Amino acid sequence: MEIGKIYSENCLITMGNMPDNYIDFVITSPPYDDIRNYNGYKFEFEEIVKELFRVLKVGGIVIWVVADATIDGSETGASFRQALYFKGIGFRLHDTMIYYKNNPMPQTAKLL
Ligand SMILES: C[S@@+](CC[C@H](N)C(=O)[O-])C[C@H]1O[C@@H](n2cnc3c(N)ncnc32)[C@H](O)[C@@H]1O
Repeated sequence: MEIGKIYSENCLITMGNMPDNYIDFVITSPPYDDIRNYNGYKFEFEEIVKELFRVLKVGGIVIWVVADATIDGSETGASFRQALYFKGIGFRLHDTMIYYKNNPMPQTAKLL
């Protein structure tokens, strides 16, 4: 791995080239709830989280920016399930923040 280089590829490949306990900090806004089509990119949540745990140094931090789709008037709860999965494999859940946006309505959303 080359520090400072941008690797535009599947993150599982990138992390696969990293040794254990390699990085201090991750910030990511991953796909969620199949809300958008990312040109066929497959998002393997569980494999990615396990790799994150392996490559992150002890005391390292992941900021995981995510939301739920709303289906039939209810949020899916996917973000909560993801947080519990992180905990289940050994991460500590440090803080959960609500991101207040001025334009929270996705372009694809339709008013009832
Ligand atoms: C919610 S968007 C985030 C967009 C980003 N914050 C931006 O401003 O461009 C999710 C992004 O993750 C990428 N992605 C999906 N699966 C991926 C994977 N396995 N490895 C790397 N990137 C992936 C998608 O192509 C998409 O660009």
